[in-house]
Amino acid sequence: MEEKQEQVFAMPRIGEKAPEFKAVTTQGEINFPGDYKGSWVILFSHPADFTPVCTSEFMTFASMEKDFNAANCKLVGLSVDGLYSHIAWLRTIKEKIEYKGMKNVEVTFPLIEDITMEVAKKYGMMMPGESNTKAVRAVFVIDPNGIVRTVLYYPLSLGRNFDELYRIVIALQAADKFSVATPADWQPGDDVIVPTAGSCGVAKERMESKDEDTHCYDWFFCTKKLDKQKVLDAIIKK
Ligand code: BEZ
Repeated sequence: MEEKQEQVFAMPRIGEKAPEFKAVTTQGEINFPGDYKGSWVILFSHPADFTPVCTSEFMTFASMEKDFNAANCKLVGLSVDGLYSHIAWLRTIKEKIEYKGMKNVEVTFPLIEDITMEVAKKYGMMMPGESNTKAVRAVFVIDPNGIVRTVLYYPLSLGRNFDELYRIVIALQAADKFSVATPADWQPGDDVIVPTAGSCGVAKERMESKDEDTHCYDWFFCTKKLDKQKVLDAIIKK
């Protein structure tokens, strides 16, 4: 007898074009990622409407939407539920749920209906080992050219850290704008990493530099100061 193969869905990888799709959402139809050209966008999935972890996540994300938008980043959610379930759930959140000081929270970013799982499969959001019927908590950070820049996956039981998602958006933009890398736990105002020396001459120069704004832990690991306000001015729209 032929062995039944477990279906494995591809996932978009960092550095690749975000897969295209058209979808119905709570804010009308969208053409993804074309409609978001020129903006950063976070496409994220949640397992199901009317579930507690997802409700806490949506209230948190919606409460931070202004901050993401000010950093030129739009939010798009998805679950494999239908449109009317999405609408009913978002209405319940606004009308009834008070959580951690958040109340009357209106989710104004689009929430994709994906009952056919077409988009969820395209983005590798279905992980049969975790659930056959619910998407895992996936996050794709996509840049203004439609390129996937960060991918995160969380299981059903683990709510995401939205401060970390915000930090990712700011750090990616800072890295692009200032041609630097960002070290562990970087926040605006912290030192940034300058590209590693690509020749013996540059390595020597770095180690012998008297520049007060740079510090080399060794020839391959040099940081420099990057003023917090300069970072914020370059990224945050007032
Ligand atoms: C939740 O959001 O609470 C949840 C959703 C699916 C499975 C487990 C928890």
